[in-house]
Amino acid sequence: IIVQRIQDMLIHGIESWSPILPVKRVVLDFSSPNIAKEMHVGHIRSTIIGDTLARIFEFANIEVLRRNHVGDWGTQFGMLIQFLFEKFPNGEEAANQAIGDLQSFYRDAKKKFDENPDFKGRAQQARGEDRYLAAWKSICQISRNEFDLVYKRLNVELEEKGESFYNPYIPRVLEELTGKGLITESKGARVIEGRKPPLIVVKRDGGFNYASTDLAALWYRLNVEMAEWIIYVTDVGQQQHFHSVFSAARMAGWLPDQKEEKYPKASHVGFGFVLGADGSRFRTRSSDGAVRLVDLLDEAKSQSLAQLIKRLTENGQIAKWTDEELDKTSEAIGYGAVKYADLKNNRLTDYKFSYEQMLSDKGNTAVYLQYAHARICSIIQKSNKDVEELKMTEFITLGHPDERSLGLHLIQFAEVVEQVCDDLSPHRLCDYLYTLSERFSQFYTNCQVVGSPEETSRLLCQATAIVMRQCFHLLGITPVHKL
Ligand code: ARG
Repeated sequence: IIVQRIQDMLIHGIESWSPILPVKRVVLDFSSPNIAKEMHVGHIRSTIIGDTLARIFEFANIEVLRRNHVGDWGTQFGMLIQFLFEKFPNGEEAANQAIGDLQSFYRDAKKKFDENPDFKGRAQQARGEDRYLAAWKSICQISRNEFDLVYKRLNVELEEKGESFYNPYIPRVLEELTGKGLITESKGARVIEGRKPPLIVVKRDGGFNYASTDLAALWYRLNVEMAEWIIYVTDVGQQQHFHSVFSAARMAGWLPDQKEEKYPKASHVGFGFVLGADGSRFRTRSSDGAVRLVDLLDEAKSQSLAQLIKRLTENGQIAKWTDEELDKTSEAIGYGAVKYADLKNNRLTDYKFSYEQMLSDKGNTAVYLQYAHARICSIIQKSNKDVEELKMTEFITLGHPDERSLGLHLIQFAEVVEQVCDDLSPHRLCDYLYTLSERFSQFYTNCQVVGSPEETSRLLCQATAIVMRQCFHLLGITPVHKL
């Protein structure tokens, strides 16, 4: 039966091992940085974890709406734009210059907002006019360009539907909730009780907030986008917020009571902090200014390039590599290493960010796995036997215990993917992949592959390579074939 399943996969492709889930459409809310503010490592975590979950659902043939719920709305925009107008009363060019460095501009605006009550009042009034809208749009665009640099490097696709998108839906959603008797008055604000503390949905000044936006977004996702499962990827600090929103949705009858039906369903996927070498929270900003996330990623790439060049120089292979190959390979390894270092841990735990650790070629790292995969590729190549032909005519044999243990692990792939779909924990897939490469190397050490009379062990190599590549794909890592 093991043999049969592997053989089937070889013939029909890895898709024949994709899990079957009872949902057709998922909304995955991830990344979601805030306009005009710094995109921090928490947003990178959300981007990496969210993208993996999206890839896994897509592999299960589920339609995934990848939503970037950017913070593009709220008092901070009034503040920012009022500041802009007052600083540059008639100089559009100057304004464009200033918002070129949005973050320091934001800091100045915030300072004035906190220190100057008159300005605060003006900022809270600022809205509506055309020039206000135009300024808002250009601010959003500047941030978006910066976010896109990160998404491009991580090769992550997202569709932006920011907080402002749901704004028009808030009044009617709150009306519905009021009609159901869920909203009560408390100290001048309007709140939903149920969980403690109560969820504030209209502030004392009458304004809407993060929670009202999320209620409207949840309503929209259930009723307009018709999603059966809505998943939010943020740091654990927001868990409370989401559980309050979900509980309000259950009280409103939008979501079934936990015990009864399973769908539609809403889940919060929380994650821990990224720590620096000293064990304190990792900061992308150093004392001398801002270290952009892009630079953080590019550092991984350049360190991996240096490593690669050193190794190829030492083993005399460097002449065989073009600059482009070096560039592509170090990119795949560097960015892949950052992703894997994040994904391999249980997402709820904090982890230390260390280039040295993530770029090591030993242990449970993406670099080690890339080497393992490249080695299998070269074994398959060396055995100059056409595996395409072999898989149709020969059967895999699992005579040796190491062959059996590899085969057994191979067929567990589908089960592991299914489990990740269930508990939304990508580290399971990393564990699986790491064990796979260990089993493979044991098999390779103890069973003759190249030059053996049993051609069929090449099929086992091929099956391993396919499954490894699929794991890489699901983790958003580009596999390297030559190393
Ligand atoms: N913008 C938020 C932040 O930076 C994350 C948004 C998460 N999604 C949501 N629907 N609330 O923390």
